[in-house]
Amino acid sequence: MQFTNLLINWYLDNKRDLPWRKTNDPYAIWLSEIILQQTRVAQGMPYFYSFLDAFPTVFDLANAHEEQVLKLWQGLGYYSRARNLHKTAQDIATGSKGVFPPDYAGLLQLKGVGEYTAAAIASFCYNEAVPVVDGNVFRVLSRYFDVETDISSSGAKKEFRELAAAVMPTDNAALFNQAIMEFGALQCVPKSPDCSICVMNESCVALQKKKVALLPVKTKK
Ligand code: ADE
Repeated sequence: MQFTNLLINWYLDNKRDLPWRKTNDPYAIWLSEIILQQTRVAQGMPYFYSFLDAFPTVFDLANAHEEQVLKLWQGLGYYSRARNLHKTAQDIATGSKGVFPPDYAGLLQLKGVGEYTAAAIASFCYNEAVPVVDGNVFRVLSRYFDVETDISSSGAKKEFRELAAAVMPTDNAALFNQAIMEFGALQCVPKSPDCSICVMNESCVALQKKKVALLPVKTKK
């Protein structure tokens, strides 16, 4: 698939050197994804380091006092994320001897872990072939393939998940998921992307049809 080849080659040449990309430890990946749920990479990075420093393992986090967890979280907002983080660490420490669920379905059962985060952990840690679908993925796929589905509609997630699954290399889910998120974050950005330098500019359907600024379609906030 041309899309997939262009995407992965772009990623290998352009990816940022991010700390959570150097580990397969589900604890560290989970921590990074919870921090990044409503937070930008530059803002979340120091928190990722300070949490791993204070709590190197899921047991350390489980055994911490809630005040210490909330104190380290200060500045990130959405404090329910920190409370869920602590509670889930305790569940994993006591319920499964510190071992994270080994697949997408199991990860989805964790408090504070939704479809996106479960897919991120399952693919990054276990290379399970589940696509991540976030705002970046909606934007990249809707433009490249000219998909006009309203991303705020009830069926949008399923449609984009199926499209992503169809173009994802089944033996390299981790690389594909990282690549599509990075491409959306750095190149195929929401406002005024520089399509003149884009590696996909000969095959991106939205660009051929001059629809880049119109996609993705989103009617509700
Ligand atoms: N935002 C959310 N998860 C991310 C990740 N793994 N890498 C970069 N940005 C992200």
